[in-house]
Amino acid sequence: MGRAHSNACNQVGHFFDLPYRLVLKSCHSRNLEKARKFQSVWGYESVEEDWRKLVERDDIDLVVVVTPNYLHKEMVIAAAEAGKAIICEKPLAMNMQEATEMVAAVEAAGVPSAVSFCYRRNPSVALFKQLIDENRIGRPFHYRATYNQDYTISEKVPVGGNSLWRLDGNIAGSGVTGDLLAHSIDTAEWLNGPIEKVCAHTEIFIKERKNAETGEIITITIDDACMFLAVFKNGSIGTFESTRYARGRKNFNTMEMNGSNGACYFNLEEPEYLQFFRYGDPETGEKVEEDHLTGWQKILVTNKEHPYMDRYWVPGTVIGYEHYFINQLADFLIQMSGGTPVYPVPTISDAARTQKVCDAVIQSAREERWIQID
Ligand SMILES: NC(=O)c1ccc[n+]([C@@H]2O[C@H](COP(=O)([O-])OP(=O)(O)OC[C@H]3O[C@@H](n4cnc5c(N)ncnc54)[C@H](O)[C@@H]3O)[C@@H](O)[C@H]2O)c1
Repeated sequence: MGRAHSNACNQVGHFFDLPYRLVLKSCHSRNLEKARKFQSVWGYESVEEDWRKLVERDDIDLVVVVTPNYLHKEMVIAAAEAGKAIICEKPLAMNMQEATEMVAAVEAAGVPSAVSFCYRRNPSVALFKQLIDENRIGRPFHYRATYNQDYTISEKVPVGGNSLWRLDGNIAGSGVTGDLLAHSIDTAEWLNGPIEKVCAHTEIFIKERKNAETGEIITITIDDACMFLAVFKNGSIGTFESTRYARGRKNFNTMEMNGSNGACYFNLEEPEYLQFFRYGDPETGEKVEEDHLTGWQKILVTNKEHPYMDRYWVPGTVIGYEHYFINQLADFLIQMSGGTPVYPVPTISDAARTQKVCDAVIQSAREERWIQID
């Protein structure tokens, strides 16, 4: 994800008129050789061997925290205390206790912050939000989210070492709940308002794996799969499903909402499309006239009238994953300068709310009961 953020820093000024010019001052990784290669590929001016020195440098205004989850708290608090603006990757923290400490530090320092719930910046998801705000869904009844992948099915997939920290509870905090459902929860609450209570079940399909570095067999504590029911404050009800064992699914992040006036469906494996079903007039709620064209519409979200798309190419020309990070950074910088972003970026305080729901989901599965969320 360091590449996604570095690319966004390099590109954002080409597509958006911004009050700031971004200069890639310094990067860090625990692997110095890797950091030097990264520096030359992405055009950083320097490499810092110690991340604390990087965070404290006077010539750095914005710190982007893109490390495994267990490091987010320490890095965010240090950046806040050094007076930097912060972008932190999701999930915000290992748990709500950490998130609370991070919120306190950021609020005490008064620094701008954002958490990288990047899917809100997909133009189709942003259009989903616009249709809700235009009352085209009407009164919501159902919200349905999935976030399914299949890359940990083999029991030979080891734990530890580069990139496989996601299976290690001490590094990741939780499994699919923090890694994938945090995205689904963020989007759900953005689109459909607060979740009031949850009832969850989690599963660990492969209970022991080999540590990639030591060869030791370790017990897996993170959730391989998680399903939960949700009741939203607006009275609608939701289902959420996430797993890394859905054979054939790579990044099946979907969301559907069904309401009195219409319905909307998005699937990240076809990210340039939004599906919409029109039933009621957004002004009156009266049923619109039906004819032979009645049915789901699959909208190719590439026109300049669609969110963010006036910044890019001609209609019909799609944009990709990397653009969500460009859009996110643009919105953050515009928000920081007091301007009006396309949509506001979730701050660290906002993301603590998502962490609270994630914690409630894990607690519900552990205690096998509904958990009420404040
Ligand atoms: N927003 C999204 O769509 C999205 C997608 C993937 C990952 N993420 C999040 O981004 C973060 C990073 O994930 P990733 O997939 O890039 O992981 P990764 O393992 O590919 O990269 C992590 C980087 O952190 C470095 N690192 C590890 N331990 C370190 C330490 N002690 N000190 C300094 N650097 C250290 C590693 O060397 C590596 O460069 C995670 O929080 C993850 O949840 C977000």
